[in-house]
Amino acid sequence: MTESWLITGGVGFIGSNFVRLSAQRKRERLIILDALTYAGNLENIGDLLDPSRVIFIKGDICDHLLVSRIFQEYKIDKVIHFAAESHVDRSILGPSPFIKTNIEGTYNLLECARSSWKERTGPLFLHVSTDEVFGMLGSHDSPFTEDSVYKPRSPYSASKASADHLVLAWHHTFGLPVVITNCSNNYGPRQFPEKLIPLTILNSLEDKPIPVYGDGLQVRDWIHVEDHCRALFQVIEKGKRGETYLIGSHSERNNLEVINQICDLVDEILNRAQGSSRKLITPVKDRPAHDRRYAINSQKIRKELGWKPVFSFEEGLRDVVRWYSENRSWADRVRSGDYRRYYETQYGEK
Ligand code: NAD
Ligand code: DAU
Repeated sequence: MTESWLITGGVGFIGSNFVRLSAQRKRERLIILDALTYAGNLENIGDLLDPSRVIFIKGDICDHLLVSRIFQEYKIDKVIHFAAESHVDRSILGPSPFIKTNIEGTYNLLECARSSWKERTGPLFLHVSTDEVFGMLGSHDSPFTEDSVYKPRSPYSASKASADHLVLAWHHTFGLPVVITNCSNNYGPRQFPEKLIPLTILNSLEDKPIPVYGDGLQVRDWIHVEDHCRALFQVIEKGKRGETYLIGSHSERNNLEVINQICDLVDEILNRAQGSSRKLITPVKDRPAHDRRYAINSQKIRKELGWKPVFSFEEGLRDVVRWYSENRSWADRVRSGDYRRYYETQYGEK
């Protein structure tokens, strides 16, 4: 019989890419629960909706009655939990929704799964988390592994770390069948343009200043969103309950390297003189407690589950720059009034 998967946050960036790949597989019935915050855009999966296979429900993961009803009505077999407040800078401007959604929302989902799955065999609660829970690395430190100690430093990462602890506690105490994944920085189509890569692409396309925090030498370990999603399918199919898997594609780059590469790709696409977009790069005030470096050792998922990434950073970035340049109206539509207000507060621009 076809399984029913509850996908929380399924119209956000990673969630919608995951839904698009799942819909191609045509194996599971997908029940997508999303509150449609500023980051959630139904248009990301609108073409896939189908009452027998891809069902969208607008709602909050903190709503106990609603989530319990969904478990009952759709006989949920697996939860793929993406829903979260996900932007570090917003967590510094206002931590409250991060505590509510990331911690209380995860708690509510765990409780609903626990009461619904009492007599079931084979379900799975996959909690999609981040490498930021491990804090930051120095330039000579070894990459994070599944044994790294939790040392979150921002309200966002602390809220995700809290959620990870809840998920594992529900496994150890109540036997809930969980798996946690901690992934590095994703890039790809449909990422909300508050994050470094889409913001840089759009500002470059639109001839606007490109903000660089501090010295721009902070390092992130970039992974294409589809590689992340394919890793999640492997974890769903073969992951061991109670385990954690780190996901990353060994693509460490500092921010200035990434920004320069994007500028050059935009110049090429727009037939501008090489070097024009780099002139837009503008140093701005640094992020408080700005983590210097993240890096992932993904040997466990590669060896035990047979996953490996497909995209090199260079080809992935080229595709993504092309996607944003061909989907300017998508970007215009998602940059709602709320985003414009946030942009003014963060960068002091009208
Ligand atoms: P996103 O901000 O693009 O999307 C989040 C989605 O969750 C949105 O659709 C939003 O409407 C929904 N949502 C927010 N609060 C909700 C609530 N209370 N109830 C229901 N829905 C709600 O985030 P993303 O970048 O797609 O990240 C998805 C998940 O992956 C998050 O848990 C994040 O911590 C994790 N993650 C992200 C990255 C990354 O680089 N983006 C890396 C590793 C892990
Ligand atoms: O590591 C995984 C995490 O990656 C995810 O858990 C988060 O949800 C996701 O937002 C991302 O967090 P970062 O803080 O690393 O991503 P962001 O795109 O906000 O920033 C990437 C780097 O670029 C970081 O060093 C800050 C810097 N930056 C960012 C912005 C938005 C700038 O220099 N200028 C900017 O305008």
